[in-house]
Amino acid sequence: MFQNKAGILMALTLAFLLNLQGAEAITAEHVSVFVIFAQTHEPSGECMFEFDEDEVFHVDLDKKQAIWYLPEFDRMFSVEAQGGLANIAAAKSNLNACIQHSNHTQAPNEPPEVIVFPKEPVELGQPNTLICHIDKFFPPVLNVTWLRNGQPVTEGVSETVFLASTEFRFRKFHYLAFVPSAADVYDCRVEHWGLDAPLLTHWEAQEPIQMPETTETVVCALGLVVGLAGVVVGIVLITKALRSSPDPRARGPL
Ligand SMILES: *[C@@H]1O[C@H](CO)[C@@H](O)[C@H](O)[C@H]1NC(C)=O
Ligand SMILES: *[C@@H]1O[C@H](CO)[C@@H](O)[C@H](O)[C@H]1NC(C)=O
Repeated sequence: MFQNKAGILMALTLAFLLNLQGAEAITAEHVSVFVIFAQTHEPSGECMFEFDEDEVFHVDLDKKQAIWYLPEFDRMFSVEAQGGLANIAAAKSNLNACIQHSNHTQAPNEPPEVIVFPKEPVELGQPNTLICHIDKFFPPVLNVTWLRNGQPVTEGVSETVFLASTEFRFRKFHYLAFVPSAADVYDCRVEHWGLDAPLLTHWEAQEPIQMPETTETVVCALGLVVGLAGVVVGIVLITKALRSSPDPRARGPL
């Protein structure tokens, strides 16, 4: 069933990724994690596979199919989503047993830590992606909204599923495609039961903004000119020094 297939798949993925990263990576440590959970809130369950903290695939519970994080994998491997769904069903029945056993005691909420950063070095007018990394929270229940100048943005947004963090907590990424401009400010707004109020993490383009390429070219050209001028001055000085040298052997043909 799934367990075996997943095992084979993991080995294949390992081999594939190790292969990609070359010989050095084979001696390094790698970590793969299966995240399977069920809970009494939305999302009610998840089944996903991570390799070195990157998502490899997850099972879409509505479509009942495996979704590869990199579409290329779709052509290389097949996974039976049915197995993932069976795993979640098992987790759900365990959950019910736990709820009975603990007399409906809820696990304590762990609030998230949030950071926002751009994917590429920021250049005004150059399309980029803002990344909101939400980490170390429990349970995996979140509301996340991107705000531009205080207004919710829904276009150009995407997100990962819940990924494994440390100590049985979770982490998640939200993305926003944007074009940096000096006029716009952004916030990643996160709601979680571990927080007293929604947490806004601010980001705006800051000085010094990386110089556009034309400026860089001008600076480079200036540098070259200054450098060449230095060489010319040096030659002139050397020539003068040679001319005024009292040693006749240094005069050469001049
Ligand atoms: C379970 O919870 C109920 C309601 O809070 C309480 O009355 C009962 O004593 C609890 N049972 C146990 C075994 O802790
Ligand atoms: C998310 O938003 C919904 C609707 O406003 C709300 O009912 C729910 O409690 C929120 N979840 C969290 C974790 O704050």
